[in-house]
Amino acid sequence: MTDQTVRPPVRHFINLDQIPTETLQSILTNARELKAQKFSPPQLFAGLSLAMIFDKKSTRTRLSFEIAMKQLGGHTIVMTKDEMQLGGAESIEDTAKVLSRFVDGVMIRLSNHETVEELASYADIPVINALTDASHPCQIMADLLTIEEKLGDIKGRKIAWFGDYNNVAKTFAQAAPKFGFDLTVAVPPPLTPDKKNVATTITLTDDPIAAAKDADVIVTDTWVSMGQEGKQIDAFIPYRVTPDLMAKAKPHAIFMHCMPIHRGEEVTDDVLASPASVIYDEAENRLHAQKAILAWCFEHSGVNVQHK
Ligand code: CP
Repeated sequence: MTDQTVRPPVRHFINLDQIPTETLQSILTNARELKAQKFSPPQLFAGLSLAMIFDKKSTRTRLSFEIAMKQLGGHTIVMTKDEMQLGGAESIEDTAKVLSRFVDGVMIRLSNHETVEELASYADIPVINALTDASHPCQIMADLLTIEEKLGDIKGRKIAWFGDYNNVAKTFAQAAPKFGFDLTVAVPPPLTPDKKNVATTITLTDDPIAAAKDADVIVTDTWVSMGQEGKQIDAFIPYRVTPDLMAKAKPHAIFMHCMPIHRGEEVTDDVLASPASVIYDEAENRLHAQKAILAWCFEHSGVNVQHK
């Protein structure tokens, strides 16, 4: 006799544009609830294990996933790609199937986005994108949480991005139509992305002053992402976030950066020290967002996670 039980689809968290807006909103609501319970965290993940696989450095992502699992009663195992058989003799398929027999979820940080998609296609457990060259969805969930904490509803707000149209900017672009905010991306001309690679819902410009005008949120990131060292940075200098650039934004505008920061390059010290800077709240919110992302992923993977 065959097992006729139909299991719900595994909930991967890989790209924001693959996840319904209502789901993302409910994850943010849950993140706010879990943040409110940060000193008495519910033991939602008792008995659950998360594999954490890295082939790049991390401070915030590693801390937030590991602490999120442990505060909610779960366990983690951290591995670097070089310590595993992944990418060597062992196929992605075998890696996914073996991981699925040992742990309840996988968080993975790899350059190659397609490898993460492939791992998910073979996994019976949730796979969470902890940054690829294409996107950084967990970071943007923390950023949305932070913006709504500081400014209220994000709908109709203007978010202005300065610098490279990198994986974080691209993920903001995925979130913009879902959450109804305007995203303006100011990129230096030599690095202007091909229009066909840019979401049609965003405004692309090479004019940093126009981008900053009346913005609610000014956001930047390192000019040279991990793995792209050696890139020319001179073209980015007019896109540096300075007090003058902040002055073009709305009076209540906040400054955000996912960190790590190259102080004096993409942003000046005086902006970072100003009341507009919310960078450490943004970093802390990685923890609360991660808890809610994990809770959503685990809920329909054959694991009974009790929500409050
Ligand atoms: N923002 C971010 O992903 O930080 P880490 O690289 O330190 O994880």
